[in-house]
Amino acid sequence: MAKTNIVAGLDVGSEKLTAVAAVQDFETNTLQILAGRSIACTGVRGGVVSDIRKTSAAVSYLLGGIERDIGKNIGTLLVGVRGAHLESFCNHGTYNISRMDKEITQTDMELAVENAKAMPIKNDNEIVNVITQGFSIDKQRGINNPEGMEGSLLEVDVHITTGSSTHLNNLAKAIQRPGYKIDNMFYGLVPLGESVLTPEEKEIGSMIIDFGGETMSVGLYINGILKFSHDIPYGCDLITSDLSRLLHTSRQHAREIKEKYGVAFPTFLDEEGEVSVTSLDGRSTHNITKSYILDIIQPRVEELFEQIQRCVAASGYKDSAVVGVLTGGGSQMPGMTDQAVNILGLKEVRRGVVPRDLVTAPDEFFDPVYSTALSLVLYDSNNVDYDDYARDNYTKGASVFGKLGRFLKGWDIFGG
Ligand SMILES: Nc1ncnc2c1ncn2[C@@H]1O[C@H](COP(=O)(O)OP(=O)(O)OP(=O)(O)O)[C@@H](O)[C@H]1O
Ligand SMILES: [Mg+2]
Repeated sequence: MAKTNIVAGLDVGSEKLTAVAAVQDFETNTLQILAGRSIACTGVRGGVVSDIRKTSAAVSYLLGGIERDIGKNIGTLLVGVRGAHLESFCNHGTYNISRMDKEITQTDMELAVENAKAMPIKNDNEIVNVITQGFSIDKQRGINNPEGMEGSLLEVDVHITTGSSTHLNNLAKAIQRPGYKIDNMFYGLVPLGESVLTPEEKEIGSMIIDFGGETMSVGLYINGILKFSHDIPYGCDLITSDLSRLLHTSRQHAREIKEKYGVAFPTFLDEEGEVSVTSLDGRSTHNITKSYILDIIQPRVEELFEQIQRCVAASGYKDSAVVGVLTGGGSQMPGMTDQAVNILGLKEVRRGVVPRDLVTAPDEFFDPVYSTALSLVLYDSNNVDYDDYARDNYTKGASVFGKLGRFLKGWDIFGG
């Protein structure tokens, strides 16, 4: 079947799958979102496949539905992965140019990156993403594209994300079973950070937090580049559990109460009023005050931000971030940005979604639910054409090399 020009981004969340399909509009140089959907998926827990049959069925339903919506097949599929099995590192690579002519080539750049990748990786882990953070030539730093320049010593800084091959392969299998081919996998926070943070925010030092259901992804940008990232295996679903346990009600109802009446900071408790809670067996109701809901939520939110604070402190980049950007479902709760300012010691924190000037899309897509899926297609449109790179199987060796090649072609957006 001929490959279409439709690019889809699939965000694998902890309890749902979200995807958008897009096409590049070369006249306006923007990305046009044609369709998108988000569906519950109980086959994935914390970014890891726990039931391959259910996950495949959900992928088929989601992507098949989008294809029907637009009347075309998806030509290119990009997948955003998350989970506590992912780990990120910054590393440095060098390459000596010993030829008579000292003109730096693409191959020299690739070899410098290969050298940066030569680091111990845990057994059964593989590289998910390699991002070049800038080159230096003969100790002169801050060179975005050294190709064609002269030099003897080429150095590169990279950000590498690794993940469990087992988990990555299981996810790939679940997506391939209904007949979809994965063109690339990304660590979801990477495209999200690139799309949601402004260049100024990245430059002065910023923290991005994707506050999901079962995962909080944290990224630190310092001097324009992503220096640290980590997935913490807890999130906003803990608040649902607290409410369910303490209010003696179902998780579904507890989640509704959280999303409708939940606030994370006292100043957001607009008016005192009562909320009716249905008992676990559904037979009776009792009333509680909104401030009681705050009393349950606030300590948990504070604890979650304290976890983030500990994670950042352990990264070695404590106090490097000046501003913060919150995304993900949890960011929607009033008072979350205030808690982030207080606990993380940031000067200011805002909620972030993909900026409207980067994509043409109906209003509903500028919502935290779609941020990662949207940023996947956006990130990729800035990078490469696909004709030379498509794989039928997500296999260890091929994925690493393929991504490196693709990445180097699109290196210039990362140089900062
Ligand atoms: N208005 C709201 N107020 C409070 N919490 C909310 C609100 N909207 C969504 N949430 C919560 O956000 C969480 C889901 O967030 P998100 O959609 O980012 O998660 P996900 O992508 O499925 O999972 P993850 O990022 O953990 O892999 C759920 O706990 C949900 O109840
Ligand atoms: Mg998410």
